[in-house]
Amino acid sequence: MIYNYDDIYRMSIEEPENFWATAAQKVHWYKKWDEILDKSNKPFYKWFKGGVVNTCYNALDVHVESGRGDQTALIYDSPVTGTIKKYTYKQLLGEVSLFAGALTELGLKKGDTAIIYMPMIPQAVISMLACSRIGAVHSVVFGGFAPSELATRIDDARPKLIISASYGIEVNKTIEYKPLLDKAIELSKSKPDNVIIYQRPQIKAEMIPGRDVDWLDAVNGVSPAGCSHMQATDPLYILYTSGTTGIPKGVVRDNGGHIVALKWSMQNVFGVQPGEVFWAASDIGWVVGHSYIVYGPLFHGCTTVLYEGKPVKTPDPGAFWRVISDHDVAVMFTAPTAFRAIKRDDPEGSFIKKYDLKNFRTLFLAGERCDPDTLLWAEKSLGVKIIDNWWLTETGWPVGANCLGLGDMPIKPGSCSKPVPGYDIHIIGDDGNRMKTCNIGNITIKLPLPPGCMTTLWNNNEHFIKTYLDKYPGYFETGDAGYIDEDGYLWIMSRTDDIINVAGHRLSTGEMEEILSSHKDVAECAVIGIADELKGELPLGLIVLKSGVDRINADITDELIQLIRERIGPVASFKIAAVVNRLPKTRSGKVLRGTMKKIADGIEYRIPATIDDPQILQHITEVLQNLAEIRKHSRRD
Ligand code: COA
Ligand code: AMP
Repeated sequence: MIYNYDDIYRMSIEEPENFWATAAQKVHWYKKWDEILDKSNKPFYKWFKGGVVNTCYNALDVHVESGRGDQTALIYDSPVTGTIKKYTYKQLLGEVSLFAGALTELGLKKGDTAIIYMPMIPQAVISMLACSRIGAVHSVVFGGFAPSELATRIDDARPKLIISASYGIEVNKTIEYKPLLDKAIELSKSKPDNVIIYQRPQIKAEMIPGRDVDWLDAVNGVSPAGCSHMQATDPLYILYTSGTTGIPKGVVRDNGGHIVALKWSMQNVFGVQPGEVFWAASDIGWVVGHSYIVYGPLFHGCTTVLYEGKPVKTPDPGAFWRVISDHDVAVMFTAPTAFRAIKRDDPEGSFIKKYDLKNFRTLFLAGERCDPDTLLWAEKSLGVKIIDNWWLTETGWPVGANCLGLGDMPIKPGSCSKPVPGYDIHIIGDDGNRMKTCNIGNITIKLPLPPGCMTTLWNNNEHFIKTYLDKYPGYFETGDAGYIDEDGYLWIMSRTDDIINVAGHRLSTGEMEEILSSHKDVAECAVIGIADELKGELPLGLIVLKSGVDRINADITDELIQLIRERIGPVASFKIAAVVNRLPKTRSGKVLRGTMKKIADGIEYRIPATIDDPQILQHITEVLQNLAEIRKHSRRD
């Protein structure tokens, strides 16, 4: 019988247990589950309870055993170092088993945690897989975060061991990781027993005797480690993401459900076959990197690409087309911002014509709203299908997409198409009632979430419930607002919290406000996300100084910009700030962030009836009009 999207979607919602049990047949289990879905401790649903599995086994061993050993598993393509290195499944398994042996030798055991703070090098992937092989819970921290952010994660995850490298390369800048890591460990209360450092050729990190171990020494003479037998419900990894304010939100993913969901998505959402080349141009520090650079493609027997470069400047806006052509990429995944960068530097798409892209068939874009201009430009320039898909760190795989493996559907630019099977989406108003078709509300997912989604927040079940489940009982709050149209298409419009999306990176303006407020001269402040042609949004800080503080604006704003860079990291892209007399507020004291955003973006707005003092809004409008100039300078920098 041939099924289409509608049938499959209905089955996944009406009979989720049968649906996922069928999908799970494609996974290797040491022991099958006792219960497909354990509902005994709601809202903590558990998929495949009693099942025994290993994530690394499903990513590597299974393929070597079934005859894919000589197929390329991983292509490391690094324009910033001029390197291309390929690992077959057999070779990758060898490297991973050996490093897993080294981790065991250093005392890392099943259930322990390890932080991975690394640039985009094969050793990062090897570290993740080695942890999963021995059942250690890994937590990858993105390299663009500053030491204090890393320290917060160290204190929450309490790693027994941290794996890092001597440096990373950002276009032509060398970023030394080791001093940043040392600083983070100095700041954190929890101290790792050991730090393993992969020494890259150009710069050797200074080692602290007794604690730091060179990667090569760690693997020297050790025996390769086998796979730990893990409960399907055991944690595989923690991935920290931005939430309101600075409280760490460690999203926890399990082993069994994660393998089942990601493997299913490769075939059914991305329409990829085992043996094909799949490339996610992201970073292993983000969820896209976890799911679609490392785990998904390997579970599915694909060849995955690890790209240490940028869409532009490494060396030119043809960088992506060179990779696609050199490695025969069939399907690619990246963020719209990458295409905006390419479009900016090569509006005619002339670099595309230099490469042979004959086997390239689909481009998936996610991580932020995909503006129709970018989507249409990409479609016209490349002549391939462009699929906008929507999801979040919390879900781990797409929630809304045109599922290519289930038959193609017409594209509506600006919409991420329809809900993916497994996700029962409901749009709910602030009053808790379901919204009518085409009316905007809070996008929620009816519980239980499908396999592969977060199971809780690390060491904080209470915060998990409070953050995601309390507001609409029985539903998971995604934090996005949007609507479903008359054809069942999903439209993602904005976040409902203080999260902004900068170049596909998720950042909390609340956290930035906390940091700015900690400055001795700041009385109060507001950070808003303003529209940016390249990065989608950029944070803008509006600062009120304490009375009596007499400082040159440029000096204080420079200091504040530096403060955010030191505390969150360069990834925050916080480069625009202005001192204002006061902030516009309602009579009840609520800062009018939404109104200020509209003024800055040049969008029509209404002066709220509850405004405290309209003159302040006038003053802010004048400041924001000047900001256009400041933004231009900041971008040129
Ligand atoms: N380690 C250290 N620093 C990093 C870093 C890392 N891994 N990644 C980014 N940074 C730094 C950058 O060097 C930059 O620093 P600067 O202020 O000193 O210039 C800052 O963090 C901001 O980085 P980014 O937002 O990436 O901006 P950019 O101008 O360097 O590049 C794009 C812009 C669009 C080219 C880039 O963001 C991109 O390729 N994005 C698309 C893919 C993607 O990563 N998506 C994420 C989720 S799918
Ligand atoms: P992250 O957890 O970093 O992946 O960020 C998730 C957030 O990015 C979502 O909550 C959305 O706000 C936004 N996002 C991701 N994909 C899309 C998309 N296709 N369209 C609109 N917004 C998106």
